[in-house]
Amino acid sequence: MTESPGQPGPDSKLPGPSSSGPSGFVVTLDGPAGAGKSTITGMLARRLGAHRLETGALYRAVALLREQRNVPWEDEEALTHIAETLAIQFVPLPSGETGVIVEGSDQTEALRQQHIGQAASQISKQPGVRAALLPLQRRLAQGRPLVVEGRDMGTVVFPHADMKFFLTASLEVRAQRRLQELKNAGVETSKQVVLQEVKQRDDQDRSRTVAPLVAAEDAIVLDSSNATAEEVVALALNHLKTAGNPSLQMAAAQATNG
Ligand code: DC
Repeated sequence: MTESPGQPGPDSKLPGPSSSGPSGFVVTLDGPAGAGKSTITGMLARRLGAHRLETGALYRAVALLREQRNVPWEDEEALTHIAETLAIQFVPLPSGETGVIVEGSDQTEALRQQHIGQAASQISKQPGVRAALLPLQRRLAQGRPLVVEGRDMGTVVFPHADMKFFLTASLEVRAQRRLQELKNAGVETSKQVVLQEVKQRDDQDRSRTVAPLVAAEDAIVLDSSNATAEEVVALALNHLKTAGNPSLQMAAAQATNG
C-alpha cells in the first residue's frame, strides 16, 4: 500500500464512508495500547485479502516530526501544520511487515520507539491535529477493502464501517505483552515501569475530550486476555461472515474455508 498525501483534500467533508467501491469494505479495530490490535489487524487483513492501516503511525509521525523540529508541545498551530502537511507512505517490506516513510525517509524503527508512542498519545489530544488527520485516514480507505486500527476508527473516522471490533485485554496482560516485546528488543525495564506506562497511556487516550478511546455502540467487543491471536481471529471471522456487505461476507467465508 502506498499513499503520499499532502494537504487535506476536498473529501475532508465526507460524512465517513463505509466502502466506496463494489468490492470495498471497511473493518475497524479499536482498543487500548497492548491489546494486540496490530497483530490481529495484520492477520485479519491477510486472511481477508484486504489492505491494512495502522492509524497510530500517523500520530507517531507527527510526534517524531515535532521532536525533530523542536516544536513546543503546546503550540497547537505548529502541530496542526505538521499534521496538515504530513507526507507519509506505507510500503510493503520483504518481511511481510509494513514500512513507513515519513518526509521521504524510512522511519519504521524510529516510529516504534516507546517515547514516540507516549508523545503521539500526548499530541493526539489536540483537536487541530485530529481534524487534520481525519480526511487523510478516509482517503486511505477509498475504493479498497481495508482493515484499519486505531482508537476512534468506529466512533469518528468510519462511523459507517461494515463491521466494528473493539479489542481489549486486562491491564496486567497488556503490560506483560509489552514487557516481553521490550525484552525481545533488548530493552531493560521492569514490569512495574511498563505497567505504569501502559496505564498512563490508557488514561490519556480515554480521557481526552476529542475522540476519546471508547467502544462504538455497535462494536463487537473481543477480549484477548485469555485467547491466542488465532482464536481472536477465528472469532472475528465468524462475526464477519454475518456482515451485511456481500464482499466482506464472501471474503470472510473464503478465509474460514481456506
Ligand atoms: O496505536 P499506537 O500505539 O501506534 O498509537 C499511538 C498513539 O496515537 C495512541 O496512544 C493515541 C494516538 N492515536 C489516536 O489518538 N487515534 C488513533 N486512531 C490512533 C492513535
